[in-house]
Amino acid sequence: MAPRCWRWWPWSAWPRTRPPPAGSTPSSRQQFSTQEQTPQICVVGSGPAGFYTAQHLLKHHAQAHVDIYEKQLVPFGLVRFGVAPDHPEVKNVIHTFTQTALSERCAFHGNVVVGRDVTVPELREAYHAVVLSYGAEDHRALEIPGEELPGVFSARAFVGWYNGLPENRELAPDLSCDTAVILGQGNVALDVARILLTPPEQLEKTDITEASLGTLRQSRVKTVWIVGRRGPLQVAFTIKELREMIQLPGTRPILDPADFLGLQDRMKEMPRPRKRLTELLLRTATEKPDGEEAARRAVAARAWGLRFFRSPQQVLPSPDRQRVAGIRLAVTRLEGVGETAWAVPTGDTEDLPCGLVLSSVGYKSRPIDPSVPFDPKLGVIPNTEGRVVDVPGLYCSGWVKRGPTGVIATTMTDSFFTSQTLLQDLKAGLLPSGPRPGSAAIKALLSSRGVQPISFSDWEKLDAKEVSRGQSAGKPREKLLDPQEMLRLLGR
Ligand SMILES: Cc1cc2nc3c(=O)[nH]c(=O)nc-3n(C[C@H](O)[C@H](O)[C@H](O)COP(=O)(O)OP(=O)(O)OC[C@H]3O[C@@H](n4cnc5c(N)ncnc54)[C@H](O)[C@@H]3O)c2cc1C
Ligand SMILES: NC(=O)c1ccc[n+]([C@@H]2O[C@H](COP(=O)([O-])OP(=O)(O)OC[C@H]3O[C@@H](n4cnc5c(N)ncnc54)[C@H](OP(=O)(O)O)[C@@H]3O)[C@@H](O)[C@H]2O)c1
Repeated sequence: MAPRCWRWWPWSAWPRTRPPPAGSTPSSRQQFSTQEQTPQICVVGSGPAGFYTAQHLLKHHAQAHVDIYEKQLVPFGLVRFGVAPDHPEVKNVIHTFTQTALSERCAFHGNVVVGRDVTVPELREAYHAVVLSYGAEDHRALEIPGEELPGVFSARAFVGWYNGLPENRELAPDLSCDTAVILGQGNVALDVARILLTPPEQLEKTDITEASLGTLRQSRVKTVWIVGRRGPLQVAFTIKELREMIQLPGTRPILDPADFLGLQDRMKEMPRPRKRLTELLLRTATEKPDGEEAARRAVAARAWGLRFFRSPQQVLPSPDRQRVAGIRLAVTRLEGVGETAWAVPTGDTEDLPCGLVLSSVGYKSRPIDPSVPFDPKLGVIPNTEGRVVDVPGLYCSGWVKRGPTGVIATTMTDSFFTSQTLLQDLKAGLLPSGPRPGSAAIKALLSSRGVQPISFSDWEKLDAKEVSRGQSAGKPREKLLDPQEMLRLLGR
């Protein structure tokens, strides 16, 4: 989507002669100019949405002050806890976020769980505007029998485990089985498959946690099935990630040419990205590789395969019912055409033996506070162009606004839109008048509740510690996993 045309008007040039808001007194009118000079804005969440919202507000309003509240002790959301360790270039956005955090008009307050340590109404009282950018922290459940068996994990937890998310550090997945099944065919599914199958020595120089690397070194997983309920034209992953899988050292792809029959003719009408992706799938499924590639695949000890038209129906237990032994898949066919076609069961089923099931069918946002509207079906905060419906002064951006899809660049564009909306409302006099105390009031509240926020300079100390811990192993960092240890290192 192209950015909407929005003319920037320097704050100092905004009209001062606007009629006062209805019901305002002369003294509140005087105060209004104070608010105009220093709007106090609060952002909840320090992932890409939070940081890009803050960046845009600071850039386009010369006086605005932005406080970012984050539940983790450390910043950057899924850039730290989601993006795969073997994709370090994606994490370069952290440099831009750091510049924003170092602005003297911006402050980071980690270790503050909004909705628990401080409520959204309390934030709205302290600030002229509040932006909710708290992402999608849950996973979508499969809602099938056996989902709770040992050996079944959400991709979200598995990703959190190898990326050092404190709550997942004890996950300890058992990788002693031969076959793993990943349910879902999005980019997260490919990330997880790649991490499971990459030769561990190739991960040694990344920021993957040492504990998960140790488990991956012991892994006996030889085959990974990536299962989709629809067909090759509906996969949700993208070409770059598919290419990485095809080229993964020590592995070979397993694609059934029968799944691709008739697709050649339909490619002409496809949008270019889908066409290129389908061409690569088709070539991999149907063409014999050349000499060197054929030799590489012939000696590959590990394999990954795409299984289409299969919908998860039941996780099958081992005879002692102590762990997963397989998955029952409903065979499906498509109704409708193209990307919007949907899967319907044919009535047939297939059992796929496996010792590990990773459910990668998407993330899900949680409601944050009873005062904030939430659409449980879509898993988003209902909003119009980033304005939370029926709550003046409350905005949202990122995955909690749009739902859990889109890369960092999509999240950036979306966050800039929300920031523009907020600045337009500020300019139109739609936000509360009079000065607001901002973080001074919230810090006092937090202190009275025994909460000790982490500042950005605290994070810089933890960052330096992680970098020095990684140095001896030639890693960019060795992440700190235990919040208590982090607090101890900060002398708390
Ligand atoms: C596994 C995975 C890998 C990905 N890899 C890539 C990639 O390689 N390239 C790419 O472009 N995109 C990638 N993405 C997509 C990208 O991460 C998202 O587009 C982006 O992170 C969404 O930003 P967000 O700020 O909305 O959410 P998040 O990044 O989740 O940030 C939300 C923040 O809010 C905080 N928070 C939550 N609740 C509270 C609360 N109650 N109080 C205070 N703070 C709170 C969270 O701790 C978090 O820090 C990946 C996504 C996933 C899931
Ligand atoms: N390298 C990268 O750039 C990168 C890496 C990771 C993530 N990301 C981005 O992050 C976002 C989230 O990725 P994601 O993989 O979690 O989500 P996603 O792209 O939405 O993929 C979810 C997958 O789960 C399937 N699914 C959903 N519900 C299902 C059900 N009930 N039963 C069976 N299958 C089901 C979907 O199939 P249907 O299509 O049939 O619903 C789809 O294949 C995406 O935008 C992704 O591109 C990017």
